[in-house]
Amino acid sequence: MNKVIVPLDVPTSQEALALVDRLGDDSDFYKVGFELFTRAGPDVVRTLVDRGKRVFLDLKLHDIPNTVARAVAVASDLGVDLLTLHATGGPSMLEAAAEARAGGLRLLGVTVLTSLSPDEMGTIWDREIRSVRDDVGRLAIMSREAGIDGVVASALEASWIRGQVGQDFLIVTPGIRPAGADTGDQSRVATPADAVRAGADYLVIGRPITRATDPAAAFEAISSEIRSADTTLPSP
Ligand code: C5P
Repeated sequence: MNKVIVPLDVPTSQEALALVDRLGDDSDFYKVGFELFTRAGPDVVRTLVDRGKRVFLDLKLHDIPNTVARAVAVASDLGVDLLTLHATGGPSMLEAAAEARAGGLRLLGVTVLTSLSPDEMGTIWDREIRSVRDDVGRLAIMSREAGIDGVVASALEASWIRGQVGQDFLIVTPGIRPAGADTGDQSRVATPADAVRAGADYLVIGRPITRATDPAAAFEAISSEIRSADTTLPSP
């Protein structure tokens, strides 16, 4: 099964659907984030679902339990597969979200944003942050205990998180760059093969595919690297 999720980091549904067309049938999982969702709304999600694509709606919900639960129910109705919410919304919010999900929707906790430095986290929480990883692990376990289905995490932390939360908990990793690829604004990157070996279930891979001269060929090369590294798949 395809493990690559391509983010539709473009401002309009026309550009998003043109990219989906260029990528073809094998690429069947797309991430819709704030920019596209704010511009194109649920219509673009419905169009993707109608075309047989799976959708990761990356809205990073964080609000009172009732409000989040209602948004989760709407995302379930839309036919979304993955939806993010901030683990720091707390156990009541996470439990309400888990209870409200329906259909095939699975919820992913965002633990600590990778853009946050320990200093900035210290400012937010008014305490000394000795290890960001401890907070990531703690929030991943809290998410799991509240009934959340997985977390978004750096591939560099995936195997450690797997050790904390055990199996049957999704780990979705952005920050992926094939060996030798331009890292762009990502600083802590892993190759597709390393991410899979570290226990990632899905890999969010944007620019190495979307900015390639031939996106479909780049998608296929990455998928082939993943298949070779993935011991959970039957051998070809
Ligand atoms: O183009 P690139 O492969 O860097 O895209 C990665 C995608 O994953 C983007 O949509 C980005 O917003 C998202 N993401 C990330 N790092 C995180 C969380 C999400 O790069 N920690």
